[in-house]
Amino acid sequence: MDFKEKIRIIEDFPVEGISFKDITTLIGNGPVFRTLIDNMADKLRGQNIDYIAGPEARGFIFGVPLAYALGVGFIPIRKRGKLPAETVAITYDLEYGSDTLEIHKDSFEKGARIALVDDLLATGGTISACARLIELAGGEIASVDFIIELTGLKGRDKLDGYSVESVVQYE
Ligand code: PRP
Repeated sequence: MDFKEKIRIIEDFPVEGISFKDITTLIGNGPVFRTLIDNMADKLRGQNIDYIAGPEARGFIFGVPLAYALGVGFIPIRKRGKLPAETVAITYDLEYGSDTLEIHKDSFEKGARIALVDDLLATGGTISACARLIELAGGEIASVDFIIELTGLKGRDKLDGYSVESVVQYE
């Protein structure tokens, strides 16, 4: 199935010069969304994945159905202050300023094999912070999967040593 064809491109959003990859047209199509998740689940099956983890908000859209398909738990990686129990946190640099992501300290057992999932690999800042956060809490990153990869931004370089895959690529 041609998933790229299902992603809508919106020029000059959110600012001029950005060619925004809009996944709402993909997830809005039931059979396409289901096939995408089934394909990703097929790939991860047999890899002894204990959990899927993904960052808010768009990482949830793909991570949750994937966890359901595999019959494993989902670990939400959230922005600061959203999780109610004791957390592990990581602060990472943005173009302007910084951001903090958190997971619950008791989200998983030490040594758990966790597959990270997000919609988009751009600079790689978000997902490399997620990977460090999981490792800080004692987890092992089994794989890192994206729907879309913007190859020109070289986010992959920040994920050296991990098994990284994307469904659709744009230069
Ligand atoms: C987007 C996207 C990824 C991240 C990719 O999230 O969903 O998580 O940016 O960019 P990077 O590789 O340069 O870090 P955003 O921060 O816009 O949040 P949202 O999912 O809540 O919209």
